[in-house]
Amino acid sequence: MDTLPQSMKAVVIDKHGDSSVLRLETQHPLPVMNETDVLVKVHYAGINFVDTYQRSGLYPVKLPLQVGREGAGTIVDIGSNVPPSYGLQVGNRVAVFTQGTTAEYVSAPAESVMVLPRSVSTEQGAAIMLQGLTAWTIVQDAHKVEQGQTILIQAAAGGTGGMLVQMCKHLGATVIGTVSTPKKAETARKHGCDHVILYKDNDVQEEVMRITSTKGCHAVLSGVGEATFAEDLACTRRKGTLVSYGNSSGAVSSFRVLDLSKKNVKLVRPTLANYIMERDEFVLRSQQLLDLVGSGVVRPELGGEYRLGEVAQAQDDLTTQKTTGKLLINIQT
Ligand SMILES: NC(=O)c1ccc[n+]([C@@H]2O[C@H](COP(=O)([O-])OP(=O)(O)OC[C@H]3O[C@@H](n4cnc5c(N)ncnc54)[C@H](OP(=O)(O)O)[C@@H]3O)[C@@H](O)[C@H]2O)c1
Repeated sequence: MDTLPQSMKAVVIDKHGDSSVLRLETQHPLPVMNETDVLVKVHYAGINFVDTYQRSGLYPVKLPLQVGREGAGTIVDIGSNVPPSYGLQVGNRVAVFTQGTTAEYVSAPAESVMVLPRSVSTEQGAAIMLQGLTAWTIVQDAHKVEQGQTILIQAAAGGTGGMLVQMCKHLGATVIGTVSTPKKAETARKHGCDHVILYKDNDVQEEVMRITSTKGCHAVLSGVGEATFAEDLACTRRKGTLVSYGNSSGAVSSFRVLDLSKKNVKLVRPTLANYIMERDEFVLRSQQLLDLVGSGVVRPELGGEYRLGEVAQAQDDLTTQKTTGKLLINIQT
């Protein structure tokens, strides 16, 4: 094992607020490992909305907090009680779904660590553990997407949306995607959307009803939250499913359960962690996802690379609709 440093660079918050509360500490103590943890030298960390919800206080967290929920790098130490059946070894290139990845080192519970096959790059590994796994659990566990279904995907050029489009096409669905700009429309088409609706110029519900001969969609997959919720419900067909998986425009604040009865719609509000809490669930969905990425069926679009000192900029770019695809922090630069 290489000699480990005494301290490291890490991005932390010790109070809630806008992106100015993010601090890059250059002498942050190395994480303390539990016996069921592995210590990972992080090469890339992903930027996600959850980082901004933790920062703002929308999602409760204990402060101070080492920022970042996903990453990829190399195992440099293994806890004494990590089950050998996990197959983890020092030197393995791995992807992790854990807290604190926006740092030079993270201590990750071994159960949330996957070894990366040669066919998946370290960048791709860091890019898929949150948005990618979310997208895959949405189309498998929240609503099983099947051949012949028509699916509406809001923010189809986004990180999660872009992967949802590719997965739904792979599963044989007709995909309608929404985007804000012509440039994002190009990206959504590249991901495989059969129909792209520029929602600033067109009425999404009208367009969806036209495309589906007034039936609506078998499922609507929306991470936008408040701004599109009424539209999401309106675009879901009778006996269809609305998967409302995020809050990029704000959390859905008011909703009448009775409204579901108009079309017997099933409403799901999933969070990734609750689909992969058990190790076997995590391994099943992660392995399937790694296979999809390794074989080129799903290609995570890398929308921007930033340095450790630029986490605030990356978060602001994500929340102000400037980006497409996945934003990564290159920890080693
Ligand atoms: N449930 C889970 O476990 C889980 C996991 C991952 C992500 N999520 C959620 O999924 C959502 C999308 O996450 P992501 O990382 O993939 O982001 P993203 O889609 O890459 O970026 C958000 C996109 O949403 C669209 N948008 C529409 N109205 C917006 C507004 N008022 N403010 C900001 N964006 C708006 C924008 O696309 P246009 O410019 O095309 O409108 C924007 O680019 C987030 O709410 C996130 O919390 C949930």
